[in-house]
Amino acid sequence: MAILTTVISISIISGALALISVIADAFLNNYGECEISINDGDKKLKVDGGSSLLSSLSSRKIYIPSACGGKATCGLCKLQVISGAGPLLPTEEPYLTEEEREQGYRLSCQIKVKTDLVIKIPDELFNIRAFETTVASITQLTHDIKGLKLTLPEGESIKFKAGQYVQLHTKPYAKVKESVFRAYSIASVPSEQTAVELIVRRVPDGVCTNFVHEALNEGDTVTISGPFGEFYLRGDCTELVMIAGGSGLAPIRSIILHVLEKELDLNIHFFFGAVTKKDLYYLDEMGELADKHENFHFVPALSAPEPSDEWEGETGLITEVVDRYVENADDKEAYLCGSPGMINACLNVLGKKGFKEDVIFFDKF
Ligand SMILES: Cc1cc2nc3c(=O)[nH]c(=O)nc-3n(C[C@H](O)[C@H](O)[C@H](O)COP(=O)(O)OP(=O)(O)OC[C@H]3O[C@@H](n4cnc5c(N)ncnc54)[C@H](O)[C@@H]3O)c2cc1C
Ligand code: FES
Repeated sequence: MAILTTVISISIISGALALISVIADAFLNNYGECEISINDGDKKLKVDGGSSLLSSLSSRKIYIPSACGGKATCGLCKLQVISGAGPLLPTEEPYLTEEEREQGYRLSCQIKVKTDLVIKIPDELFNIRAFETTVASITQLTHDIKGLKLTLPEGESIKFKAGQYVQLHTKPYAKVKESVFRAYSIASVPSEQTAVELIVRRVPDGVCTNFVHEALNEGDTVTISGPFGEFYLRGDCTELVMIAGGSGLAPIRSIILHVLEKELDLNIHFFFGAVTKKDLYYLDEMGELADKHENFHFVPALSAPEPSDEWEGETGLITEVVDRYVENADDKEAYLCGSPGMINACLNVLGKKGFKEDVIFFDKF
């Protein structure tokens, strides 16, 4: 009996504490209307307090680069905050240099708008827009990769550099109630400005990739914003070494199509790595481009081909293949896109060949 009374008492106290906490939260998080003053007062926004600075700006159609959707894992949403941000959070520390901290840079996804803020936003970010696109086609490229073609509304166009990415905004689906956004590299050529192609690899339990793979259908509308990113063609050389794994083919394909379409004076060596044949895609397209263009050399490689693959191409890790083919760094730039593990291993190989940091460009995801 005594035990039962104790259990009931504890339950009542816990319930009361939870209720107090909910009520306190409702009061404490009611920050009212706050003003965000941008670039010496050139632009002033009135927003409801309580959301992150990143979301507050995005709700007013100012799109700050973000690849992780606000989880403090990409570090791309940095902005200079002159006042109103409060102390630096531990989640921000890994992404800010000493110099950036002194200049007031912060991760906009980690700052909650609780009071008036004074911030600076680079002018070029005001050109980034959101587009309500229509899903023109969905193609199953491999067992876990889908290709999307998204057309822009009539009369609208997107200008981007080959290699850049957009953010895809999901709608609530299944048990996922909130909308999230994630970065996807544009796989199509920049001269096509009324549609973009994306390549989306499914991540187990991933919110956005399962939205694309499970909930999105041809004819649906979906919002993208962009373009973003510093991974784009420089071309201050004569040879391009391009390395991709998995969905990392997306920005590499855009750069290859751009170089070939514009007939740029660049010799491309493209290494595409996968585990087995079922993980490879766009093989026919790349093969045809290699047949047609003398300056495009395509080397697909499998690290663990199945006997049923009847694979006659290169085998081994993509690093081993690159090591065999690329002799030196003379007059070359390298463009890499794939998993962090693949990129790190490739950086190591390229470093040994003499590639300096300023001629290597990569997107890890
Ligand atoms: C610049 C940039 C460009 C990108 N371009 C592409 C692209 O062209 N195609 C593409 O498919 N993806 C791309 N990504 C990755 C993409 O933005 C998402 O991170 C990815 O699709 C997972 O989103 P999600 O919402 O499904 O997973 P989340 O719900 O964010 O994650 C669910 C779980 O999976 C883990 N996880 C997240 N991402 C991965 C991953 N890639 N592999 C394994 N586990 C993971 C998380 O840690 C988490 O535990 C890009 C990322 C960046 C930064
Ligand atoms: S959005 Fe990725 S760290 Fe802020």
